[in-house]
Amino acid sequence: MKNINKSIFRLLAAVLLMSANILYAQETVAAAPVVDRPIYEELGMSPTALASVMVTITLILVFFVASLASSAKNVLEYKRGKTNGTIKTLLVLAAFSFGTDSFAAGTTGEYMIDFPDAAFWAFLTLDVILIVLVIYFAGIIRGVVSEYKVPSKLKFFSRWNRNMMDAVPVEEEAAILMDHDYDGIQELDNNLPPWWKYGFYITIVWGFAYLVYYNVLNAGPLQEQEYLTEMEEGDKADAEYRLAHPELITPDNVTLLTDDASISKGKEVYITYCQTCHMENGKGGVGPNLTDNAWIYGGDIKGVFGTVYNGAKNGMVAWKELLPATDIQAVSSYILSMEYIAPPNGKAPQGENILE
Ligand code: HEC
Repeated sequence: MKNINKSIFRLLAAVLLMSANILYAQETVAAAPVVDRPIYEELGMSPTALASVMVTITLILVFFVASLASSAKNVLEYKRGKTNGTIKTLLVLAAFSFGTDSFAAGTTGEYMIDFPDAAFWAFLTLDVILIVLVIYFAGIIRGVVSEYKVPSKLKFFSRWNRNMMDAVPVEEEAAILMDHDYDGIQELDNNLPPWWKYGFYITIVWGFAYLVYYNVLNAGPLQEQEYLTEMEEGDKADAEYRLAHPELITPDNVTLLTDDASISKGKEVYITYCQTCHMENGKGGVGPNLTDNAWIYGGDIKGVFGTVYNGAKNGMVAWKELLPATDIQAVSSYILSMEYIAPPNGKAPQGENILE
């Protein structure tokens, strides 16, 4: 028994160390500027709700581990004929100390309690470890129980097992054998296993709750609404990202801007950098008339942007080194919105007329 206690203790120590490490690692990551939304928001829950869910799951698992650990202890004691009783307390204490540790990781913000991602991952890790422990202890019990004829001490476990399976013992199978026989294949009339049926009942209850919550009370967004909201958020994030990364705009993927803000931004750029050669309102001077439909290098947004971006041989510089691509996109869009100024006020058309 001493050895078993020791190894369980070692296991617990390892678990403690691991979760401390994870918490520490999460904190370091969180210090970097991360734009991601917190997990409770991703899940559409308040931090309080997510915290409650995680705590509940963890407590249930702790209960399982504790009861299985004490059963495993009983089973092993039975096998060795000795007694000792501290594991259960140890486990429960350890589990509770994790919970409070991860909550301490952050308690600020607009919510009553905060549930930072670090706490979520810590709980999730803890839960996975608890599940491993459940499997571990269940394995011990199974192993020992299968060696012995079940003693009265272990009746609870075997009775529970039998109730959940509701299987007819092999010796009594004759009673439920059905009377047909197809090429030697016979059929037993077993009941559905209760564990499976309970799972099915849970889905019915869940389905009903779901229906009432979403379709009767309209308390949460339906999938379609959720999809639209996410797309909207995605578009917004996309636009913000593109604005912060002008290098993403190239002559291949540039689009025409038509909103007033972009056009007046384009006009500003034009007056500052382009007017000296292309003259006011684009009527043409050293550079060609930009208001007509004749273009030397292409007159759609991709063509105009491409000329400004890469320059042209007879005296037009490549502006990509001098202006952010967002400005080039705005000024190109402005050029394409200009009113036509015909000669003699404007310069005579040069290049190919794209409308002919
Ligand atoms: C130093 C004078 C100069 C400046 C400044 C200048 N350009 Fe030009 N631009 C020219 C010349 C000259 C051409 C004709 C190039 C050729 O024929 O190869 C030209 C051509 C163009 C064309 C191609 C027209 C066509 O018919 O295909 C566009 C578009 C253009 N410029 C836009 C701009 C914009 C936008 C700016 C400001 C960011 C600008 N230019 C600044 C001199 C200039």
